[in-house]
Amino acid sequence: MKFGYFDDANKEYVITTPKTPLPWINYLGNNGFFSLISNTCGGYSFYKDAKLLRITRYRYNGVPADFNGKYFYIKDGDTVWNPGWQPTKTQLDEYECRHGIGYSKFKGVKNDVEANVLTFVPNEDTCELSQVKLTNRSSQTKQIKLFSYVEWCLWNADDDSRNFQRNFSTGEVEVIDSTIYHKTEYRERRNHYAVYSVNSKIDGFDTSRDAFLGAYHDNRDPEVVCEKGECTGSVAHGWSPVAVHQINVTLNPGETKSFVFVLGYCENPQDEKWESKGIINKAPAKKLLAKYQTDADVEAAFDRLCTYWNDLLSIYTVKSANDKVNRMVNIWNQYQCMVTFNMSRSASYYESGIGRGMGFRDSNQDLLGFVHLIPERARERIIDIASTQFQDGSAYHQYQPLTKKGNSDIGSGFNDDPLWLIAGTSAYIRETGDTSILKEMVPYDNDMSVATTMMEHLKRSFDYIVNHKGPHNLPLIGRADWNDCLNLNCFSEHPGESFQCFGPSEGPVAESVFIAGMFVKYGEEYAQLAELLGDQAEADRARKEVQIMYDAVLKDGWDGDWFVRAYDAYSHKIGSKECEEGKIFIESNGFCSLAGIGVKEGLAEKALDSVKKYLDCEYGVMILQPAYTVYHLELGEITSYPPGYKENAGIFCHNNPWVSIAETVIGRGDRAFEIYKKTCPAYTEEISEIHKTEPYVYCQMVAGNDAYLPGEGKNSWLTGTAAWTFCNISQYILGVYPTHKGLQVDPCVPSDFGDYTVTRKYRGATYNINVKTNGSQKGVKSMTVNGQAVEGNVIPFVEGQTEYNVEVVM
Ligand code: GLC
Ligand code: GLC
Repeated sequence: MKFGYFDDANKEYVITTPKTPLPWINYLGNNGFFSLISNTCGGYSFYKDAKLLRITRYRYNGVPADFNGKYFYIKDGDTVWNPGWQPTKTQLDEYECRHGIGYSKFKGVKNDVEANVLTFVPNEDTCELSQVKLTNRSSQTKQIKLFSYVEWCLWNADDDSRNFQRNFSTGEVEVIDSTIYHKTEYRERRNHYAVYSVNSKIDGFDTSRDAFLGAYHDNRDPEVVCEKGECTGSVAHGWSPVAVHQINVTLNPGETKSFVFVLGYCENPQDEKWESKGIINKAPAKKLLAKYQTDADVEAAFDRLCTYWNDLLSIYTVKSANDKVNRMVNIWNQYQCMVTFNMSRSASYYESGIGRGMGFRDSNQDLLGFVHLIPERARERIIDIASTQFQDGSAYHQYQPLTKKGNSDIGSGFNDDPLWLIAGTSAYIRETGDTSILKEMVPYDNDMSVATTMMEHLKRSFDYIVNHKGPHNLPLIGRADWNDCLNLNCFSEHPGESFQCFGPSEGPVAESVFIAGMFVKYGEEYAQLAELLGDQAEADRARKEVQIMYDAVLKDGWDGDWFVRAYDAYSHKIGSKECEEGKIFIESNGFCSLAGIGVKEGLAEKALDSVKKYLDCEYGVMILQPAYTVYHLELGEITSYPPGYKENAGIFCHNNPWVSIAETVIGRGDRAFEIYKKTCPAYTEEISEIHKTEPYVYCQMVAGNDAYLPGEGKNSWLTGTAAWTFCNISQYILGVYPTHKGLQVDPCVPSDFGDYTVTRKYRGATYNINVKTNGSQKGVKSMTVNGQAVEGNVIPFVEGQTEYNVEVVM
C-alpha cells in the first residue's frame, strides 16, 4: 500500500494523505541553517549544531506523534485548520505534501480556502523561508485570520529539555513591528539571537506560549486562535517564549494573497552586541530580512536552490530501462548522501540531536557517497575528522560539529575507526586526483603543536591495526568494531552502564575478522596512496602486511562454509558452526568477500552462498542467525535486543550493500541486484504500510524474520546505508568506479537489465558512457573512447579533454 507517489520530473515525493504510518520528513538547508520538516509541518531548526544551537523546540519521543513544528493556523469563522493538517487535525477537503530536494510544499484546502506553503532554506543565508499563499476559491468574500507559530528553544537543546528550574526564568524577546526577536541568554555569554518576521503589517502578536495557548491547552487548540480569536500582545518574561503573528486577511472571490515568513539566525561581533542598553543590535537581522521582502525575492532564491541541486545531481546520472533505479540513482539516494554528510547521526526523528555529534566512522563512510558532489567540502571534512585522531592512530569515536573537538565521554577504542579514515581519504583522491591533501599538516586531538602530514595520519591508522593484533594474528576489536553492539571487552552487568564504555576498552584477546577484512581492502588503498607519493618501499611494506592479514583470515577466520565473525575475550569463536546462536554474521562475510579474500580460493563464493542460505529473508539480508535469545555478558549490547531487531538479527540495511558488492566481485549480477532491490526504497514503497518509514530514503534497520513484525523499518535517514548503497549501485552494479588513473567501467548487472547510459562528471570532464550488456552479468569485452579502441576498462585520463564518449560492450 502506498501513501503517495514519486513525481520524478519534479524530483519530488508527493504524499497524498497526512496519515502516513510515521512522520515522513525532509531536510532543509545545506550550509549552516538546517531544518527538519515532516509531512504535517512538524520539525525543528538549528544552526550548525543540533545540540548547542537549537533554534526551535521539539518534543522528544515524537514518533509518530510528531509534536511541535512551524505551524500556520487559519481561522475561517468557527473553523480552525492547518495547511499541513497538524496540529489541529481538522479534516481537510484537500491535502498534499511535496517533499522535494531541499524544500517542501504543502497544499491544504478547507471550506473553499486554499493554502499553499513553500518552505526552504536559501543557500545564501541563515534562515528558513515560508511563502504562504491563501486563495479564496468561493464566490463570497472571505474574512479569515492567519496565525503563525513557532516555539523557541533556549539554544542548548539538552539543557532546554531538562533544566526547567532555570529555563522558566531566562526567556527574553523583543518585538518591533512585524519582527519577533528571541534573545534568551544574549544578555550574558551569547552573541546570537533568532528572528521570526513576516513581510506585512500584523494585527497582533504573542511571544508567551502560555498566553497564546492558554493554561491546560496545547498547540492543538490554542486559546488565542480557537476561543479568543485575537492575539494578546504578550511579551515573554521567562517561561516559554514563542513567536506568533496574527494577520487578518480579506480575500475577494478568486483572490490570492501571499505572505513571506522568515525564520532567521543572526550573530553580532562581540563588541557590537547592543544597540542601546538591553536592546540588541538588530543590524544583521535587518540586513537579512531586507533580502526577503517580496514573492519575487523568495522565488528567485528558490530558483537558485533548484539550480544548485540540479547541477549537483547532474554529476552522476543514469538512463536505464528501470525507472526505480533511475529514480534512486539520479535523485533520492544522492540527496540522502548529502543529508547524511551534513547530519552524520545527529539530528533526525530518531536521533534527538542531543546525543551523538559526528561519528568518526560514520562521517568517513558518509564521504564515500558524497565526495563526488562537493569534493571541496569532503576535503575539509576529512581534515576535521583527522584532526581529532590520537597520535597512536586511534580515534575519538565522535566529535561535536560546532567545536570540532573529540567527545571524551565516549572516547576511543573502537578499533575499526582508524581504517575508515583511509577509506574516506582514498575516495577523495580517487575522485579528484588531489594528492596535496596528503601533504597537509593536520593536528592530533586538535593540538597543532604535534601536527604531521595527512599521509602520516593514514600511516598511523594503518599501523594501529598492525600493532594491535590478538592470539590469532587478527585485529583486536577493542570496545567494538563497525558493529557498535558487539562488545567483547565490556562485560556490562548493571542497568545504565554503557555497553561500549564500561570495562577495559582494549582486551588483549578479543579479535575481529571484520576489521581484518577492512584491513585487506583499505590496506591496499593505503599502499596505492603511498605509490602516488612515490614511496614504493611503504607501499611494499603495506602490501606485505595485507598479505599477512589475508593469510590469518584464511587460517583462523574461516569456518568451513563462511567467515567467522570474531573471537571473544576467551578466544571462543563468534559466528561459527560451533555456536549455539549467532552462528553466521553478515559483516565478515560481506566485507572479507568484497575485499577479495578467498575469491581465488573459491571461499568467497561459498561464504556468499551461505549468506543467501541462512541470512536472506523477504525484506533483506539479516545481520546474523540464529538470533540471540538470552543476554550474554561476554557479547554485550548485541544480545540486549529482542530477536529480530537492530544488531540482533535485524536487517541492518548498512551492510546489505557489502554483500551485494561482494556478489559483484565474484560476478553474480542477478544476485547482487536481488539484494539491492530488497531494501531499496523505490521498491519497498509498495509495502509502505509494513515498512512504515519514508519510501524515498533508506532507514537504518528493518525488522528481521524473528521479529514481531518482520519488514517494519525504523530509524530513517541518518544511516551509512545511503553512502554504501550509492557506491554499490553507481560504482559496482552500474560499474563506474573512480580509480587513481581515471574512471573504470566494470558493470555487474542482472542478465535482463538491458543497455544503459551513465553520464558522469569527473575531474573537469563529462563522460557519456553507453553500455551494451548483451544479456551478460559481468565482463567488458570491448571499450572505445571517442571512437578509439582502448585496452582494458579504465578510461585513460587525458589532461584538458572535456568530453569522453565511451562505448562499452559486455
Ligand atoms: C549505527 C552507528 C554506526 C554503527 C552501526 C552498527 O548505525 O551509527 O556507527 O556502525 O550502528 O552498530
Ligand atoms: C548504534 C547502534 C545502536 C547502539 C549505539 C550505541 O547506533 O545501532 O544499537 O545502541 O550504536 O552507540
